[in-house]
Amino acid sequence: MLNQALPLLHSHFGYDSFRKGQEQAIQSILSGNNTICVMPTGGGKSICYQIPAMILQGTAIVISPLISLMKDQVDSLLQVGIPAAFINSSLSFHEANERIQEAKRGAYKLLYIAPERLESPDFIADLCDMEIPLIAVDEAHCISQWGHDFRPSYRQIQYMIDRLPGKPSVMALTATATPRVREDICQQLDINEENTIITGFERENLSFSVIKGQDRLKYLIQYIKQNEKEAGIIYAATRKNVDQLYERLRKEKINAAKYHAGMGDQERSQEQERFLTDEASVMVATSAFGMGIDKSNIRYVVHYQLPKNMESYYQEAGRAGRDGLDSECILLYSPQDVQIQRFLIDQSSDRSRITQELEKLQQMTDYCHTESCLQEFILNYFGESDTQPCGRCGNCTDARASIDVTKDTQMVLSCVIRMGQRFGKNLTAQVLTGSKNKKVTELGFDKLSTYGIMENKGAKEVSDFIEFLVSQELLGIEQGQFPTLYVSPAGKDILLGKQQVFRRETAQVKQVSKNDPLFEALREVRKRIADAENVPPFVIFSDAALKDMCAKQPATNEEFLTVSGVGELKLQKYGLEFLQAIRAFHETNPDYQSEFETSPKQVKKPAKSAAGDSHLETFKLHKDHLSIQEIAEKRGLAISTVEGHLLQCAQQKLDVDYTRLIPDEYIPLLEKAVAEAGRQRLKPIKDLLPEEVSYFMVKLYVYYLSKAQINTMIE
Ligand SMILES: Nc1ncnc2c1ncn2[C@@H]1O[C@H](COP(=O)(O)OP(=O)(O)OP(=O)(O)O)[C@@H](O)[C@H]1O
Ligand SMILES: [Mg+2]
Ligand SMILES: [Zn+2]
Repeated sequence: MLNQALPLLHSHFGYDSFRKGQEQAIQSILSGNNTICVMPTGGGKSICYQIPAMILQGTAIVISPLISLMKDQVDSLLQVGIPAAFINSSLSFHEANERIQEAKRGAYKLLYIAPERLESPDFIADLCDMEIPLIAVDEAHCISQWGHDFRPSYRQIQYMIDRLPGKPSVMALTATATPRVREDICQQLDINEENTIITGFERENLSFSVIKGQDRLKYLIQYIKQNEKEAGIIYAATRKNVDQLYERLRKEKINAAKYHAGMGDQERSQEQERFLTDEASVMVATSAFGMGIDKSNIRYVVHYQLPKNMESYYQEAGRAGRDGLDSECILLYSPQDVQIQRFLIDQSSDRSRITQELEKLQQMTDYCHTESCLQEFILNYFGESDTQPCGRCGNCTDARASIDVTKDTQMVLSCVIRMGQRFGKNLTAQVLTGSKNKKVTELGFDKLSTYGIMENKGAKEVSDFIEFLVSQELLGIEQGQFPTLYVSPAGKDILLGKQQVFRRETAQVKQVSKNDPLFEALREVRKRIADAENVPPFVIFSDAALKDMCAKQPATNEEFLTVSGVGELKLQKYGLEFLQAIRAFHETNPDYQSEFETSPKQVKKPAKSAAGDSHLETFKLHKDHLSIQEIAEKRGLAISTVEGHLLQCAQQKLDVDYTRLIPDEYIPLLEKAVAEAGRQRLKPIKDLLPEEVSYFMVKLYVYYLSKAQINTMIE
């Protein structure tokens, strides 16, 4: 049966070859195994169940958590000639019933349903009358309480499967599952863990970066303007933030849409529609927006505030570049956000999850502070160990020069102290730049020795610099009615001349994608067709397909078929129009040379089965009381790899026996070093210790401490 798969991929989806893991997943299902498929967002999970659904007799059921995405998915299938339908609460009773009757007749190859349907016994009875070879559970992490998106109705799935007369195969699909969540999914859906297809979480077309200590609004506006023609999402933390940001962008004449749970249903879906149909290029939203959004041509995702954990971050950021083209994910970091997130966690109703959530928040903050590869940090977080720096992210490519700003820092810090550490950023900047503002004189700040010592700079520039000092945690912010500045212990060291401060030049905004006139022309053709057919443009062709057209410039039907994303049905429906547009373009631009290369590069690495579990293997041996040395020998690994595994286990809250890994006599030394150096950074701690105490021990100890502390906080 597998030999039918590739021809279907050609004829319907118009792709040349399978991506990593797809073939194995299809094979596994066709051999009748329940299977779990873990691939990153945009990795191509849908095809893993859509192709088996076409090959197998009967109708495959797809469980999908959000109504908004079902329609686009079904539209996309219909576009390539695969009969499909969805049933959810957006339909009237009558419409739903009609589709059920059609489904019983076997009219569809795929039927998408919302999990809540499974709570109705009548609906389950209807399913029993259908021939169902396959159940695909999309966003399968929703089944687990350990995940970040638990949906109780997912628990009905196994109940339903048990009731069906035939024994359908089950395929679970998710982009974000830590090993623990994966285990939970397998257990609940009766999947043998051997049948795990996992391709690794790396997204080779995304470049991540964290921007700190810069004016974020200014950065954002510049960025959007620089990438005006491209679609992007801006995530903000609260509804209020979204509203404010949206207004600001509108003022800048940026064509933005907005989305949050406080808006009416109708307005929300209108705004979503404007974004999906390329009417609005930017979507400003809370995390309520986007789960399962299939829009494939999103070129950037900016987080205006810190998300609450890495799972949410990677999922949201991962909405960029689903078409495989280069895209950017930018996080604008400011330390105050950590406090806001902590506050939100504190307010949350489920007390039992607080420890876990604080720990996740800590890891999110660590991400913002790491100086190593950001993509690698993410991969390690999700349990991959044999990773390498990506060479694309902000940290890997940072070539900015550092400037010594110790003097300026001392001026600001001493001014803050002289003002009594009771005022905010703006007033401090005014004093430093010698403003004649009434408040400054009324409070007598014009008499301070620091008044006007930075008068060669603008107030805005100084206030940006203060932001930078906050991001370096040299200044702290006391939240109250008005946020006020104080000098942190690290800041005091600067005042005492114990350390220097360096600042990188400001990060410049980049242009994600090249401008190409033919691409623009084809975009217009696509938009026209999409409007006429009342579907979003990306359902007609992805940006990747349009760029491949620019590169190949097909002149005949045969040539058009070689374009990635063009199958037979799409050739029939749209070939003529696009071929004509390309010809017309040639006539007016005879010298045109495309900016794009043919077909996006496909880096093929073999999918490992259940890769990323290597650390669990190590953990087993650790539990059997083997030393690090012994584990390394037995597994043929480097000592550092084994150490890495154990840290990973500790992070995943597996019960690592610290006492066997850190010799007793080092504990008091570590204790003392941490008391002296704090535990923000490892190097100062390490510097205080004898050579024999390794980085590994320091890390493990610090990790152990923060865990112990969170535990006592809760108790
Ligand atoms: N073999 C392939 N060759 C080229 N493009 C492909 C291939 N398989 C899938 N794609 C394209 O990749 C994009 C993402 O696929 P898909 O929607 O299945 O991602 P996903 O893994 O389900 O992501 P998410 O986690 O966001 O749901 C789609 O535009 C799809 O058409
Ligand atoms: Mg999907
Ligand atoms: Zn990197």
